[in-house]
Amino acid sequence: MTERKPRLEGKVAIVTGAGSRGPGTGNGKATAILFAREGAKVMLVDLFKERALETHRIIREEKGESAVFEADLTKESQAREMVEYAIAQYGRLDILHNNVGIGMPGSVLDMTEEDWDRILAVNVKSLAFSSKYAILEMMESGGGSIINISSIAAMRGLGIAAYALTKGGIIALTRTMAVQHAKDNIRVNCIAPGTVYTPMVAEGLTEEGRALRRDSVPLGTEGTAWDIGWAAVYLASDEARWVTGVVLPVDGGLTITTEPTVTRSDFVKQQ
Ligand SMILES: NC(=O)c1ccc[n+]([C@@H]2O[C@H](COP(=O)([O-])OP(=O)(O)OC[C@H]3O[C@@H](n4cnc5c(N)ncnc54)[C@H](O)[C@@H]3O)[C@@H](O)[C@H]2O)c1
Repeated sequence: MTERKPRLEGKVAIVTGAGSRGPGTGNGKATAILFAREGAKVMLVDLFKERALETHRIIREEKGESAVFEADLTKESQAREMVEYAIAQYGRLDILHNNVGIGMPGSVLDMTEEDWDRILAVNVKSLAFSSKYAILEMMESGGGSIINISSIAAMRGLGIAAYALTKGGIIALTRTMAVQHAKDNIRVNCIAPGTVYTPMVAEGLTEEGRALRRDSVPLGTEGTAWDIGWAAVYLASDEARWVTGVVLPVDGGLTITTEPTVTRSDFVKQQ
């Protein structure tokens, strides 16, 4: 049997939100580790440097290649500096994985003006800023792949209004960017994670709540950050060369059922 070539060999990737908020493995961290295992050089970007450094430590232990950049991506200047740093470090940019995102519970009745400003800045503006500078670079170098992290909350009424709005916006922006930048050979796709068990949801989620989440999924098992990461590897790779503008649910089948779904009361205001 022939040995498989690493699927991202020779590519340079930026993963935003590449740390995890707590012990364990979140979506950004898992994706960054898988990108490195598949041969990419990975720029790990996070608001909290020590979170990105933890991912960096794991990649280095596995003899992968990564570097750390601390940035608040709600600031356009820092998104620009992030891309500049990737180019200075690795000389090119092939993949942007837009993973930064926060949850926020409740309905519009619960939201203050400050809440709206914050969630729109973190979940949507940061993605637009990061994409802007990555696209400018990819246009110069002949193309690339952008992967945006949405959520099935954009497709189902899960009881988290502002989060759903931002994640729906990400789907709209994915499709628009995919069309606008196809001529530049830039593919833009979106993953919609379901009820995966990550540090983001672990806090405050009881064993009962966890079982309910698992039981509401047709496949009957719990998703993990690695499931999201593998989808990202595919979309980042040349195997997906003819795939752009898709919204890929990674949800164990949750969005194709008519079964009642759990509410996402497990979301807490967070950073
Ligand atoms: N866990 C789930 O069940 C689930 C489901 C659907 C979608 N998602 C999405 O997955 C993504 C995050 O997953 P995760 O598991 O990596 O979360 P995480 O919170 O563990 O990690 C995200 C990282 O982003 C960083 N970050 C936050 N604001 C930032 C900013 N302004 N600039 C730079 N970095 C910033 C945080 O410091 C954190 O380390 C989010 O977009 C989230 O909405 C998660």
